[in-house]
Amino acid sequence: MDDDADELIRRARESLERAYAPYSHFQVAAAVRDELGRVFTGVNVENVSYGLSMCAERVAIFTAIAAGARRITAIAITSAAAELLSPCGACRQVIAEFAAGDTPVHCLASAGEARRWTVSDLLPSGFVASQLRNR
Ligand code: THU
Repeated sequence: MDDDADELIRRARESLERAYAPYSHFQVAAAVRDELGRVFTGVNVENVSYGLSMCAERVAIFTAIAAGARRITAIAITSAAAELLSPCGACRQVIAEFAAGDTPVHCLASAGEARRWTVSDLLPSGFVASQLRNR
């Protein structure tokens, strides 16, 4: 992985202990870089009403947006599980709202395996804003 990926992964790993996952016991953390170079982190936040739980990726992105970011230029995801994590469908759609198709999405598993996707790898033929603009 490159230096940027290493830093984002490190920031995500540092956040992992703050995951709130008392129901699934599946701790996830994410770090995103915005167009100004700032890094924002997120963890999954679960709820006793399970469907209200929020994934780490969306917490990180929404935190960035709330701080004024409008574009995401790189993403890192990690979990406490030994195996690689693959982002859920809802997160893929939210990632595609703010990140170009060639934006890297890095993932590090706790057992050490690493993987790099692009946003387009994760959401091919996605529904994006340009399809609405002609209406
Ligand atoms: N989770 C994430 O935070 N990110 C993903 O990409 C997949 C799933 C969380 C949601 C829930 O708190 C737990 O993992 C189990 O699904």
